[in-house]
Amino acid sequence: MDQPKTAWGTDAERVDAERRLEEAVHRELEDYYRAGKPPWDTGVTPPELVALVEGRGAMPPGRALELGCGTGTNATYLARHGWEVVAVDLIDRAVRKAREKADAAGVAVRVLCGDATRLDELDVPGPYDLFFDLSCHCGIPPHRRDAYAAGLTHRAAPGARLLMFGYGPEAFDDPISGVTADELRARFAGWELVDVTPGTNPVPTFWFTLRRTTGKA
Ligand SMILES: C[S@@+](CC[C@H](N)C(=O)[O-])C[C@H]1O[C@@H](n2cnc3c(N)ncnc32)[C@H](O)[C@@H]1O
Repeated sequence: MDQPKTAWGTDAERVDAERRLEEAVHRELEDYYRAGKPPWDTGVTPPELVALVEGRGAMPPGRALELGCGTGTNATYLARHGWEVVAVDLIDRAVRKAREKADAAGVAVRVLCGDATRLDELDVPGPYDLFFDLSCHCGIPPHRRDAYAAGLTHRAAPGARLLMFGYGPEAFDDPISGVTADELRARFAGWELVDVTPGTNPVPTFWFTLRRTTGKA
């Protein structure tokens, strides 16, 4: 029997193209970590996270889940400030470094190697009060982003916050990367986009704050 046709061709062709895209992203990320210190690995916790944790009206420490934690600078920062932290990254080299960083700081962080869009495959039931994403979501292939949003939504405590930094689509020379406020409003059902603050980078970047509203997604 013929496969149903979509804009991509058959469903099987679409699934295959999506799988190959995920593999390509994985390889590219692995190459960055294999080559040494990736350009984003500054070792500096951004002031936007510091403000949320230590600033006026700071959130009280609770449970945090970091998506795409890299070498763990911010997961360790959160743990040092009393948060119970789980941190996830796709690349095992990054995960190993994140574990070492937490150990060296003498704090407990559960660092898991896995896919932020497939949280059901990890032992991360939540609920979480804070989700932190420093330029992970903006690099996730579009076909996995609804699963990312659903994973967070299912694990969000009432009123949970998502602090996300992302590059705008203009910052990339490919047609799939980047994030916008409109995308987040549409994708994160059951959340309110409460703040969008432009970043200070030479290309378009944004700090997004979303708050889980009550009720179903
Ligand atoms: C731009 S880097 C930022 C890393 C870290 N947040 C930092 O600021 O140093 C994006 C990170 O997200 C991770 N990542 C990308 N896609 C992911 C996914 N689907 N699940 C988990 N981690 C992912 C990458 O391996 C990488 O460490």
